[in-house]
Amino acid sequence: MDYKQYVANVPDFPEPGVLFRDISPLMANGPVYSAATDEIADYAQKLGTEMIVGPEARGFIVGCPVAYKLGVGFSPARKKGKLPRETVSVTYDLEYGQASLYMQKDAVQPGQKVLVVDDLMATGGTLAATIKLVEELGGIVVGTAFLIELTDLHGRDKIKGYDMFTLMQY
Ligand code: PRP
Ligand code: ADE
Repeated sequence: MDYKQYVANVPDFPEPGVLFRDISPLMANGPVYSAATDEIADYAQKLGTEMIVGPEARGFIVGCPVAYKLGVGFSPARKKGKLPRETVSVTYDLEYGQASLYMQKDAVQPGQKVLVVDDLMATGGTLAATIKLVEELGGIVVGTAFLIELTDLHGRDKIKGYDMFTLMQY
């Protein structure tokens, strides 16, 4: 499947110099969204995934249907001020700006095999932060999966030692 034809490339969003890779057309096309979900679910299945974790917000869009397909749970890594109970947190750098992510303390069980799923890896900051949260909760990160990897930003260098599956590279 040539997924790239379903990505809109938007220069200078959200700020000058950033080429934004918008996955909205892919999500809006049922068969293409399903095919992408199925490919990630196959990868997840092979790893014995027991839980999907995805960072807010686009990680929910990609991760939740994978969890549904596998019949496993989904736990969100959320931005500040969203989770009502006790959390663990981490602050990290983005391609544009800084952010913090939070997970609730019972979001992952110790020893649980977790696949981290998001739409896109740029600097790898969000992924590294999400892995840190999962591991702080005692989860085992068995792999990571994305629709898109921006290879120029060398995100993989931040997360050496973790398996990665990506459908598109730019
Ligand atoms: C985007 C994207 C990834 C992250 C990738 O999310 O969905 O989560 O940036 O960048 P990184 O590899 O440099 O960390 P964003 O924080 O823009 O939030 P959104 O999903 O709510 O749009
Ligand atoms: N998140 C971080 N960098 C991005 C980009 N270039 N396109 C879409 N989402 C992003």
